[in-house]
Amino acid sequence: MATLARRQFLRFLAASPLLGYTAAGRLFAEETLDSMNLPEHLIQSPADALDIFDFHRVAKHVLPTSHYGYLATGTDGNETLIANREAFERIYLRPMRMVDTSNVSLDTVLLGKPIDSPILLAPVGSQKAFHAEGELASARAARAQGNLQILSNVSSNSIEDVIEARGEPVWFQLYPTNKWSTAKTMLQRAEDAGAEVVVLTVDLNSGSNRVLLGQYARADERDCNACHGTGPDDWLATKPMYSGTGSVSADWDMSGMTWDYLGRLRETTSMKIVIKGVVTAEDAASCVQHGADAVYVSNHGGRAEASGRGALDDLPDVVAAVDGRVPIIVDSGFRRGTDIFKALAMGASAVSVGRAYIWGLAAFGQPGVEKVLEMLNAELAMVMGQMGASSVADIGPEHIGLK
Ligand code: FNR
Repeated sequence: MATLARRQFLRFLAASPLLGYTAAGRLFAEETLDSMNLPEHLIQSPADALDIFDFHRVAKHVLPTSHYGYLATGTDGNETLIANREAFERIYLRPMRMVDTSNVSLDTVLLGKPIDSPILLAPVGSQKAFHAEGELASARAARAQGNLQILSNVSSNSIEDVIEARGEPVWFQLYPTNKWSTAKTMLQRAEDAGAEVVVLTVDLNSGSNRVLLGQYARADERDCNACHGTGPDDWLATKPMYSGTGSVSADWDMSGMTWDYLGRLRETTSMKIVIKGVVTAEDAASCVQHGADAVYVSNHGGRAEASGRGALDDLPDVVAAVDGRVPIIVDSGFRRGTDIFKALAMGASAVSVGRAYIWGLAAFGQPGVEKVLEMLNAELAMVMGQMGASSVADIGPEHIGLK
């Protein structure tokens, strides 16, 4: 009886134009209502997944509480995290009928290199916090599904091992410290390992207030020191890319970094340079002016600052400022093929996913990441077919509208 009353109440909410929103601003759809009444289902194997959220549920179930908090957290009250997802709801798709889509291809070119899919693996640090095989599992999955991988410099595995597992060069993401020698040593090492692109992340220069992480950590009864140690530099010792740099935790301060840093990078490395964490037209223009090879729109998956603006909402400003001079990559909140299609239609050349593949990693290791990538590639191919776009180049602004 109580269940029936709840169902009727939720149906009333869904039917009401005023009350059809949850506190988080989510519109109830009829289908969501029905599945809300099903008991939570945990898939037993990657093959059972219907969408990538099946991996999210398993990841939450199997991860240590604080590690799940590290993955899930936004900043402050998660304003930007929520805004990232809400931004997709304001864009609708415009299917063009009767186009021959018997051969849909995800092949595209990024920074002069042909790639099999415009979906990239965003740099996510410390992947052994999610699975014992860490970034190696992600690399093998990326190899199997043909997706380009960006390796964080706070990875649990070294770039040499990851490139070997991936079977081709990955891109190298850099958080510099306040010591130029640290960056220089790492750049040289990445280049020697075969990386052709460095991604400089510029959105964490002044720290971030990760409240949700703190809440999950507080709820975790494990002894974190057993793995993490107690010394201030113990965490750096677990990061292979810092070995040989002489760096200590106290150097981890990027608040003095300015646009001059790009010039320094340019003089030091022959790798192509991508700037990650750009959300304004002004900064996009500065990237191009200072010689960046690509602009990467990102708010760090809502983990940098509480701007309250979704990354997809930032994309048009950046596209206009860049004006076709360099490619644009975007991430933050991408969960489905339709999300990826929308960004490509708005002018992005490629889209990265972060948490999506880490849910797969945490849930099932390499086969989990593989299935997540396979599903996202397949979902994108399906929506391209539905919209009448056989190739990535065919996707254009005519395929989307603003609600
Ligand atoms: C990240 N991200 C990140 N970015 C970066 O440049 N270097 C890094 O080491 C990390 N580490 C990291 C850890 C974890 C647990 C998460 C969730 C994210 C940010 C990442 O590259 C990307 O910008 C976001 O994950 C994209 O948002 P979604 O796809 O997670 O919503």
